[in-house]
Amino acid sequence: MQSLNVALGDRAYPIHIGAGLLERAELILPHLPAPAVAIVSNTTVAPLYMDRLAEPLEAAGVKVTRIVLPDGESYKTLDTLNQVFDALLRARCERKTTLIALGGGVIGDLTGFAAATYLRGVPFIQVPTTLLSQVDSSVGGKTGVNHALGKNMIGAFYQPRLVLADTATLDTLPDIELSAGMAEVIKYGLIRDLPFLEWLEANVDVLMQREPAALAEAILRSCRNKADVVAEDEHETGVRALLNLGHTFGHAIETAAGYGNWLHGHAVAAGTLLAAETSAGLGWIGAADVDRIERLFVHAGLPVRSPAYGADRYLELMAQDKKVEAGRIRFILLRALGSAVVSAEVPTDLLRRVLTGRLIAA
Ligand code: NAD
Ligand code: GLY
Repeated sequence: MQSLNVALGDRAYPIHIGAGLLERAELILPHLPAPAVAIVSNTTVAPLYMDRLAEPLEAAGVKVTRIVLPDGESYKTLDTLNQVFDALLRARCERKTTLIALGGGVIGDLTGFAAATYLRGVPFIQVPTTLLSQVDSSVGGKTGVNHALGKNMIGAFYQPRLVLADTATLDTLPDIELSAGMAEVIKYGLIRDLPFLEWLEANVDVLMQREPAALAEAILRSCRNKADVVAEDEHETGVRALLNLGHTFGHAIETAAGYGNWLHGHAVAAGTLLAAETSAGLGWIGAADVDRIERLFVHAGLPVRSPAYGADRYLELMAQDKKVEAGRIRFILLRALGSAVVSAEVPTDLLRRVLTGRLIAA
């Protein structure tokens, strides 16, 4: 097991990464203020891992409430959140009941928001089971649900007390979800860690073959990047915005396609190439850099063309992005490979060119 710390003062918390951590109740017990937890999972993950997490806790005298939700991005809604509240209230869960999210980013974001709001806030632990959630969504305390008009529009910053990333759970993850997670892994290299980007280029094939040591290394280096950024800027007033590379375009794709029709990681990958093309249009990176990113994404099984919704539709959806300030869309762009910036100074005619150009599907 390898461990990192998210340095947030008296709300600091550990991230443990390793195989077989799910069953290790002794890693969880010190973080529980009372011997009571509610584990929130979904119909795919619960049959695989709920008992493996719950039974060692029960054996240690912890009361476990099991909550199983429908699976999918389309269920990341206020209605589903209400199902969690119903279950918590019916089981008489109290202020010292810890909510544990067992699943991918959908379950993690939704459970975290439930924890932030149930009884005005109860303790929360993340047990992420997808690559994407192990490298990104479980760390940093962004929680929430989608709104019909935009992704993740309702939510709260609410930090977990522990992140337990059991890499053995990735054994059952479908290949398509592994590649979706790679989009967020590659993101760290592109925005702030050129040596990691180069390591990923050299190791992408073994990663896609699920070589355990390579996967563990990629998760550790990703979490180190994320933990550093979150410690510096918890509430995204500055540098944390860079973690949204590709997301302004990507969230537009997810919303336009209908939640669940484009995987988040796939939309981020396609969006990252649009951001790279925009950066090239500003003369910040070269066409060869865009091709290099495209090659890495292709090796990681990621889409490199965005759907052809038309520039107007993209611009309309991106105008609702959470980063919009005074009506101006703020894009995360690449100054160079390994270095990102926030810019609200992108000419609309350049955006239109990119949104109808070679990285848009015919
Ligand atoms: P997901 O939660 O939908 O999981 C993907 C699929 O894999 C689901 O069908 C799930 O049931 C299944 N699954 C999960 N673990 C499995 C396992 N071990 N074996 C087999 N199947 C498994 O998707 P995701 O990619 O994990 O997360 C995407 C979500 O995360 C989006 O809603 C996105 O907005 C959010 N997100 C949040 C943050 C944040 O900082 N909070 C960051 C990035 C993404
Ligand atoms: N996934 C972006 C962030 O956590 O800030």
